[in-house]
Amino acid sequence: MTKIKQINVPELLKELEEHLTSLNYGQEPTELYQPIDYIMQLGGKRIRPLLTLLAYRLYKDDHQSILTPASAIEVFHNFTLMHDDIMDEAPLRRGNPTVHERWNANTAILSGDVMLVKAYDMLLEILPQYLPKTLRLFNKTAAEVCEGQQLDMNFETRDQVSEAEYLEMIRLKTAVLLGFSLQLGAILAGASDEDSQALYDFGVNVGIGFQLKDDLLDVYADKAKFGKQVGGDIISNKKTFLLIKAKETAKGKQLEKLDKWLETSDTKTNEVKVKEVTAIFTENAINTLTEKKMAGYFEQGFSQLERLEVQNQQALQTLKTLTEDLIDRES
Ligand code: IPE
Ligand code: IPE
Ligand code: MG
Ligand code: MG
Ligand code: MG
Repeated sequence: MTKIKQINVPELLKELEEHLTSLNYGQEPTELYQPIDYIMQLGGKRIRPLLTLLAYRLYKDDHQSILTPASAIEVFHNFTLMHDDIMDEAPLRRGNPTVHERWNANTAILSGDVMLVKAYDMLLEILPQYLPKTLRLFNKTAAEVCEGQQLDMNFETRDQVSEAEYLEMIRLKTAVLLGFSLQLGAILAGASDEDSQALYDFGVNVGIGFQLKDDLLDVYADKAKFGKQVGGDIISNKKTFLLIKAKETAKGKQLEKLDKWLETSDTKTNEVKVKEVTAIFTENAINTLTEKKMAGYFEQGFSQLERLEVQNQQALQTLKTLTEDLIDRES
């Protein structure tokens, strides 16, 4: 029997960070490339490439051979963040000024664009036999992320958004990329179509739970640990699960107050708005409701793993633990 190589997430993360640091996106003009180094070096959880590497390890040991395509997902993710921060008028990212704040919006647009190109360049390192399939799936995912982002923007100015519409929006903007990250690892390891689909379904369910948690943190996080502006979603009238449920639950004066805040565009009152809307959420136990909803999606995700035919049980356990840790994360 061949000895199974043990997997350890901190070590995997270290290898990934070293690989990301070794990447050279370009030099001149510096205004184009510096923001890329800036955002990539701000850190982050690196959850998507870790999922790719762990999915690969379910079947094969030599994850070093796929560090570049795994990193491509992280570059793509950071590109979406750079543009998302312009769209959301976000001041902070990972505890630092966003690219459009530190430079300007045009810089963030163009640096983001070239990051997308670099992500494709990195995907070209995939073995030729897997390339067409991977690119088709990646393109589908990337277009879906844009669709989700547009829906998210459309919903800001819409009065009524249903829970189902919200769930579809977050499936698109966030969950499909987690699904694809796992699927990529499976494809590159030569896994069966059934397993690669089960991992995708796992990722999509976990991804919906992940965005529910992100929305919860946007209201309730500890500012120092969060690294983003707390209350940003409230300020921009994002139709998050919390807001949708608060609109359904709040009655009388409370509902009037909530509606009044949704109609104000006076930025001088942002601080009071965040405080009062948060209080309405808490008084209606929307935080607990969101946690339950999130836990349901994680559960549904974990049940997909039972469909897998993997040999490496230690890798599977590591994947489960890494994913479970996302439930209690603080950033
Ligand atoms: C933030 O993603 C955007 C969402 C899809 C919620 P992450 O929470 O993975 O951000 P980083 O990469 O760890 O900073
Ligand atoms: C963004 O969702 C999802 C993508 C970047 C595609 P959010 O707008 O909630 O992400 P954060 O909170 O700014 O990281
Ligand atoms: Mg945002
Ligand atoms: Mg956004
Ligand atoms: Mg958010």
